[in-house]
Amino acid sequence: MFMTKRIGVLLSGRGSNFEALADSIAAGRIPNAEVAIVVSNREDAPGIARAKSRSIATKVIPSKGLERETYDRQVVAVLHEHEVDLVCLAGYMRLLSPYFVTAFPSRILNIHPSLLPSFPGLESQKQALEYGAKFAGCTVHFVDENLDAGPIILQAAVPVEDDDTEASLSEKILREEHRIYTEAVKLVLAGQYKITGRRVTRTEK
Ligand code: GAR
Repeated sequence: MFMTKRIGVLLSGRGSNFEALADSIAAGRIPNAEVAIVVSNREDAPGIARAKSRSIATKVIPSKGLERETYDRQVVAVLHEHEVDLVCLAGYMRLLSPYFVTAFPSRILNIHPSLLPSFPGLESQKQALEYGAKFAGCTVHFVDENLDAGPIILQAAVPVEDDDTEASLSEKILREEHRIYTEAVKLVLAGQYKITGRRVTRTEK
């Protein structure tokens, strides 16, 4: 029998990637999984309201004035309380401490709106546009304690057209984010991959 895998989602904002994962689970595109808890560092994150309206458990943990590890200990405790197997960062705008990363070895994923290692950090779509890149895209990767680093699981590219604006490019990339985050979570939960150095490759299982 398959055990249902429990996903913990961390977010700071809108929550469209969280909703894409929740929709994929509901539609069976990610089998044997559920979102067990949505955690946010921001009380006003629309993603928290979206989780509540889906009757998914939520927890807001304000980070103000706390050292990184002190904060992360609280988050990890909540994730353990909810018996989370896999942590998905979905627009979570905080760097994780080594303590957090060690608590979930190869069990934390992030989605980033650029073709890493290009354009890490903030406003990646704007960075790509201003740089003059002809292709932009998104990356799902395992998380380590560095910013937008860690072995790459999946990427998707979109062409940058001459008339693209930051808004139009972000929208094109977001559609691909929702698609590849689902694919990556499915792959990782099924254990159909191996990591060699920085390379993540598919295996049969
Ligand atoms: C997404 O574009 C995600 O890739 C990005 O924040 C947005 C969150 O949107 N994440 C990062 O930049 C992480 N470095 P969402 O709240 O609608 O999922």
